[in-house]
Amino acid sequence: MRAGPASPSAEVGLAAGAGPRYPGPMDAPPYDFGGATFDLASPSDRELVRFILSQVLYGEATGVYCGKSLYAAGSLEAARFYLRQARQELNHLELFADVFRKLEMEPMPAHWVVKLLSAHNNYYPLKVMMEHALGEGMVLDIFREVLLQTLPDHDPRVADIKKKLLVVCREEEEHVAWGEKETMRLLAEQPWLRTPYYGLLELQLSVAPMIVRAFAARAEGHPVLAHLPGFVGYVRARMWKQAQRLGFAPAERPGLPRRVWAMAWGVALFVRSQFARSHSRLEHIYISELGFGRPGLPAEVGP
Ligand SMILES: [Fe+2]
Ligand SMILES: [Fe+2]
Repeated sequence: MRAGPASPSAEVGLAAGAGPRYPGPMDAPPYDFGGATFDLASPSDRELVRFILSQVLYGEATGVYCGKSLYAAGSLEAARFYLRQARQELNHLELFADVFRKLEMEPMPAHWVVKLLSAHNNYYPLKVMMEHALGEGMVLDIFREVLLQTLPDHDPRVADIKKKLLVVCREEEEHVAWGEKETMRLLAEQPWLRTPYYGLLELQLSVAPMIVRAFAARAEGHPVLAHLPGFVGYVRARMWKQAQRLGFAPAERPGLPRRVWAMAWGVALFVRSQFARSHSRLEHIYISELGFGRPGLPAEVGP
């Protein structure tokens, strides 16, 4: 299947006999699980699905905190976006709760890695790149590739779940698109961000093989888990292309010294982000943001 545009208007595709399929992002065609599905009647598979859905549920719960970004929104466009996103993430949270109920499962606490990756960051340049562009990009990979492909269509509960997932995918695409737009704007304004951004990408990519190792023992002989190394490789390659498109990953991966240098910058920026405080903006910019006070407009209107 051809790669589709990573935009809110991306069309939902229907692959014959494989349930709803979503077009791949701009950076890669979809990963193909080759028809492998979980067995929702098997206790061990149900545990795996419960694990995946529990991480998703936690991510959606913390996603609601994007509403916090409203306080520091630097434009009316940003304020509108964060308001809409918070409402959408709250809907996603309730929607995944419905999925749990439909599958008669109870959520479990999230994995510490997911908790770490979902932590809200007050430092705007990191927030838009790490949370929206890369983070929600990975979330979309899980929804679009894993859940939409590996939940079995023959189970009567799955059609409704996938219908809901398609709605979530479209909205998550909007969030990624916003993160990408803001990341590119910030890079144009502050080109020095390129090095720490690249270092943080390298650090994120280095975590991926650990996930594969953690599931290695269970993956053997399991139709879906056997795809884990391939899928993780797919996500890494897609993220690399995404970072190149956004302008902070080099055309060729540099040698170890340059990578370590960039990672040190990335860590430094992350540490700095932990001390960042939100500053309210709207009360300083609302007049110009509403289109007043620009040249050509009367300064004041007399009686
Ligand atoms: Fe969401
Ligand atoms: Fe989102």
